Amino acid sequence: MEAKLAAGIAATEDSLLLNPFVHHLELETTSEKIKTAFLTIVLLPIRVCLICILLIVGWMLACLGLWGLTEQDLQKRPVTGWRRTLTKWLCILGKTTYRAGGMHVVFKGKQASREEAPILVIAPHSTFLDGGIVYYTGFPSIIVRRESGDNPYIGKLINFTQPVYVWRDDPDSRQNTIKEIISRATSKEDWPQILIFPEGTCTNRSCLITFKPGAFYPGVPIQPVCIRYPNKLDTVTWTWEGPSALKLLWLTLTQVYSYCEIEFLPVYTPSEEEKRDPKLFASNVRAVMAKALGVPVMDYTYDDCKLMTRAKEMNLPNANVIVEVQKLRTRLGLDQTKIEECFIENLSCQDCSQISYVEFSSYLNVAANDGNAQRIFNLYEKNKSGSIDFREYVLGVVGVTENRKTLEILRLAFKIYDSSGKGRLSENDFVPVLVHTLSMSIYESREIFQRIDSTCQGYVTFDGFLRYAEKKAEFAGLFSLSKEELRERNNSIVDNNKVKSH
Ligand SMILES: *[C@@H]1O[C@H](CO)[C@@H](O)[C@H](O)[C@H]1NC(C)=O
Ligand SMILES: *[C@@H]1O[C@H](CO)[C@@H](O)[C@H](O)[C@H]1NC(C)=O
Ligand SMILES: *[C@@H]1O[C@H](CO)[C@@H](O)[C@H](O)[C@H]1NC(C)=O
Ligand SMILES: *[C@@H]1O[C@H](CO)[C@@H](O)[C@H](O)[C@H]1NC(C)=O
Ligand SMILES: *[C@@H]1O[C@H](CO)[C@@H](O)[C@H](O)[C@H]1NC(C)=O
Repeated sequence: MEAKLAAGIAATEDSLLLNPFVHHLELETTSEKIKTAFLTIVLLPIRVCLICILLIVGWMLACLGLWGLTEQDLQKRPVTGWRRTLTKWLCILGKTTYRAGGMHVVFKGKQASREEAPILVIAPHSTFLDGGIVYYTGFPSIIVRRESGDNPYIGKLINFTQPVYVWRDDPDSRQNTIKEIISRATSKEDWPQILIFPEGTCTNRSCLITFKPGAFYPGVPIQPVCIRYPNKLDTVTWTWEGPSALKLLWLTLTQVYSYCEIEFLPVYTPSEEEKRDPKLFASNVRAVMAKALGVPVMDYTYDDCKLMTRAKEMNLPNANVIVEVQKLRTRLGLDQTKIEECFIENLSCQDCSQISYVEFSSYLNVAANDGNAQRIFNLYEKNKSGSIDFREYVLGVVGVTENRKTLEILRLAFKIYDSSGKGRLSENDFVPVLVHTLSMSIYESREIFQRIDSTCQGYVTFDGFLRYAEKKAEFAGLFSLSKEELRERNNSIVDNNKVKSH
């Protein structure tokens, strides 16, 4: 048993999970630290003052440009005349702001006109500083959440780009946004180009993640634009696991120079097939950009990566294939049925640690010749043994179910690994439960078993474990709300307040 477990864990660690949503940034050498401290005193205050002044002037220009325009005017037709001229000034001002922050922008290729390509597709998206690209591409319209427009400073600038708004509360939001993009992109009027970051979230630029199809629905020619930050110290990357925006800003502003490279690739005109299939269009454009950038593509979304990170933290069985398994389950329609969870309440396999493919497909109630089911089986099969540990599969599935707390997963794991069926787990049943939910070592788990089972009855119950764990600091996390849960609660409170105040 121990050997088997050890082998399972080793296999998970071998194929390291690629997670492009992390960024590590620390000042390593003493000379770097001294330099940063020195520039923080000498350079930072000057830059911050300059940038503030430029930002205020920019804001005033945007206010002037919006002056006397109603929401309707902005949404219905492109601004013209002196207001158009004003956008040019705003671009110059924006570029100067970046220059004042030490950012040097280098161009490759040439930006296409709106006639050639109504939509600019920008990738990889890795930082809030990417937003500055609007100044370098002649103030195109952007796509933003409606709430962003309410910000008193940025809101003016955003509104002045004549953005396409996404309304989060509106159930038809997606459709309306797409309609709006199509009507702008194909309009006879002289709208600005539309600028889209198709990834929709920041990565560390090590790969291109799934492109959302929004930019590709209109089926018009698009120009792919690559952004690189070829700096020795990467002070810009802003991902959900990494330094805060403030720290990044500080470290960027205390670099003597930072470089940003914007490369305009040739305009991509969709084929008839791509026009009919926006997802195909998106994935082909992504392939072109990945080639230009020399990075791989990864079919992950932000949610997928959060899922995998959690699975890895808990050390769920086969954590590295869990996203793939979830996708296969969706194709089989299992995400709707919750069949695995019913199974926990009523474990009917003789020996769940070894089941054949025929049993597997019958438990899941899917056709035995279904390739997706076969693929899941293969992912869990070890050593071509012709059998899988069904408990590992079920635990993986329930472990990544949305919003399920660790304590609840632990409770289910106790049921899944309960070979007695009486709620009494032997040491061999108990060990994998802790290994695969709390990411403990086999050795630690055995020790805990022995401490709980101090009277040597040979088994441990869930309640017995809880009674033990409540007294131990190392398990405190189980009983308190996790950070994420707290944040979610806060958000729901904020959201409720918003709804109330409307
Ligand atoms: C960026 O993500 C990749 C995984 O795709 C990871 O291997 C790499 O360490 C990350 N880079 C940084 C600087 O954190
Ligand atoms: C931006 O425009 C929206 C509506 O188009 C408006 O509600 C919002 O107040 C504007 N933002 C600012 C800062 O003026
Ligand atoms: C448990 O399984 C048996 C047969 O395996 C089945 O007859 C019974 O309906 C199941 N009970 C529940 C609650 O699913
Ligand atoms: C895998 O199979 C080989 C040969 O059949 C055997 O020697 C080895 O011990 C097996 N490994 C595991 C982890 O079962
Ligand atoms: C939630 O809000 C409270 C006060 O409203 C704050 O003290 C706490 O830090 C917030 N928690 C998180 C995780 O954001």
